[in-house]
Amino acid sequence: MALPQSFLDELIYRCDIVEVISRYVSLKRSGSGYVGLCPFHNEKTPSFSVSGDKQFFHCFGCGEGGNVITFIMKEENLPFIDAVKLLADMYGMTVPEDEGGNDAARRHRERLHALNKDAARFFHSCLMAPEGRGALEYLLGRGLSKKTITSFGLGYAPAEWDRLCRAMMDKGYSKYELESAWLARKNKSGGVYDAFRDRVMFPIIDIRGNVIAFGGRVMEGDGPKYLNSGDTPVFNKSRNLFAMNLAKKSKSGRLILAEGYMDVIALHQAGFDYAVASLGTALTPDQTKLMGRYAKEAVICYDSDAAGQKAAQKAIDLLNRAGLEVKVLRIPGAKDPDEFIKKNGREAFQLLLDKPQSDSEYRLNVIKNKYVLEIDAQKVEYLKEAAAYIASVQSPVEREILTHTVAKEADITPAAMSAEVKRAFTAALRKEKKKTENEALRPIRAVQPKETGLRYSNPRSAVCEEKLLAIVLDDHELLQKAGTMIAPSEFSSDFLARIYEKALYMEENGHEIRPAAIMAGLEDAEVRHLTQVLSAKVASQDAERELADYVAVIKAEQAKQQAEGDDRLLEVLSRKRERKG
Ligand code: CTP
Ligand code: MN
Repeated sequence: MALPQSFLDELIYRCDIVEVISRYVSLKRSGSGYVGLCPFHNEKTPSFSVSGDKQFFHCFGCGEGGNVITFIMKEENLPFIDAVKLLADMYGMTVPEDEGGNDAARRHRERLHALNKDAARFFHSCLMAPEGRGALEYLLGRGLSKKTITSFGLGYAPAEWDRLCRAMMDKGYSKYELESAWLARKNKSGGVYDAFRDRVMFPIIDIRGNVIAFGGRVMEGDGPKYLNSGDTPVFNKSRNLFAMNLAKKSKSGRLILAEGYMDVIALHQAGFDYAVASLGTALTPDQTKLMGRYAKEAVICYDSDAAGQKAAQKAIDLLNRAGLEVKVLRIPGAKDPDEFIKKNGREAFQLLLDKPQSDSEYRLNVIKNKYVLEIDAQKVEYLKEAAAYIASVQSPVEREILTHTVAKEADITPAAMSAEVKRAFTAALRKEKKKTENEALRPIRAVQPKETGLRYSNPRSAVCEEKLLAIVLDDHELLQKAGTMIAPSEFSSDFLARIYEKALYMEENGHEIRPAAIMAGLEDAEVRHLTQVLSAKVASQDAERELADYVAVIKAEQAKQQAEGDDRLLEVLSRKRERKG
C-alpha cells in the first residue's frame, strides 16, 4: 500500500524518535544526541546512537540505521505498513484508507488465503477418502494418531494431474490465482496442472491462523523427499515457522526448535505443544525475532548428524541475538526427536528437556570432543582452545564457573586454568586492536557500502559526494548554495544523486529538509548506508570552503571519466577504421 508522502512526513514529525526508541532501549544523553546498547547486536559498550535533531538512529557497531519507521520494522519484526500502523496507533493518528491499486493487491492476498484454506480442506478430505488410504496408512504407520492428523490438518494430494485445479476452479478460483498461490504450474499451452501430486500434505499456517503454504512429502518412489511452496504474495518462507500458530498458545514460555515437520508433529503429539521448525532452510533473523516475541527460552533440538549439529551452532548465535536464552539438547541414540520419542517415550524426552546443557557447556563439549585428552599434547591444545572460548564469554560469573569445570575435568588447578583464560583474553584484545588499525588504513575500501547493489563506481568522487551531502542536508543555506554550484547529474553515484536531487527539490518547494523524511522512500539497504554517511559527519569550521573543495573534486573526477570515455570511443573508432582499411 502506497501511503501519501504528506502522511509519512507528518507521522515522522510527530513520532519523536528519541521518545519511541526509549520505550525499547535505555538511552543516555551524549553530546547532541543519545546513546545506548544496540538492540540489533550483542554489545557491552554502547555504540547505538540516536539523534533527535536529525531524527535518525545509527549503530557504529553493526551498521544498522534509519528513521523511526525503520527502527520499528526491525525491532518489532514488522513489514513497513504494519510498522506505520503501530506508530500511528502510539501517537493517535489515523492511517489513510487504501488507494485503489493497492486495494487490489490486498484483495488478491485475501483470495489466496481463502484458496489455500479450501485447498487444505480438499487435501484433507482426499486423505480420508478411499484414494487416500495409502497415505493415511503411511501416517498412522509413522505413529501419528487420527487426532494429531486432524489437528495439523494433514492431507493427501491425489496422484493425478489436475484434481486440485479442477476442484478449486469449480469453486470459482482462477488459473492465475492457483498459480500465484504456488498450488499449480502453467503448462506450455496455457493450461495449469497441480504442483503437488501423490504426496502427503503439511499445511503451513501463520500466527493469525491463515493457511499460507504447503509442504508435500513423497511416501515412496522418486522425486525430492519434500516439495515446498515457493514464496507467494502471502508466504515468505524465511519469516514463518512451522506450527508457530500452535506453539504461540503454549503456556510454557519456551519453544523447542526442531528440524523437520515430522519431528514437530511427533513432539506435539507427545505433549510438547511448543515445538516449531524452520521451513526447510537455515534459520533466519526474522524467524528468531518471531520466536522472541512468544518465548524467553529456546531449546534447539536438531538432528544428531553432523549437519544438524553444525546448524545448531549457527542457531545459538541468532537466537541469543533475538534475546532468547538458549539450551541445546542432544539426542542420545536416535537420529532425531521423532525417532527418540518413538523409541523411548515421552517421559524420556521430558528428562532430556529438564537437564539440557547451557549454550556454553555445549560449546565446551564440542571443543572437548575434538581432542583425545589422554594424550598430553592434545590436552594442552584442548585447554588452549577452551580458554579462548571461555575468554569470549560475557558474564564473569559464568567465566568463573566454566574455568572451574574445565580445570576439574583436565585435572589441573583452577588458578592455572584461570591464568590461561587471562592470556587468551589479552591475545584477543590485541588482535581486535590490530584489526581496527588495519581498517583505519584502508579508507577507500571502508567507504564502499556493505550492500553490493550500492557499490560505487568511482569511490574517490563518491566520498566527496557523501561528505557534500552530509554537510548540506544539515544546513539549508548551504544546500541552496550547493544547488547553484553542482547538479545531481554530475554525481558519480546514482544513489547519492537521487538523495541530492530529492533534497534540492524539497528545498525549492519550501519543505523543511529532514534526513528522516528524505529516507522515507528508500530501500532498507540504502537507508542503512545513508545514515552511516550522515553520522560520520564531523563539524567543520568553514563549511563553504569545504563545499567548494568537494565540488571541485567531483567535477574533476567527472571530467576525467568523460575523457576516458572519449579515449575509449576514439580507440574503438580507430580500430574499426583499421579493419576497414
Ligand atoms: N526438507 C525440505 N526438502 C527436502 C528435505 C527436507 O524442505 N528435500 C525440509 C523439510 O521441512 C523437513 C526438514 O527439512 O521437514 C527436515 O528434513 P528431514 O529430517 O529429512 O525430514 P523430516 O521432516 O524429519 O521427515 P522424515 O522424518 O519423514 O524423514
Ligand atoms: Mn528428520
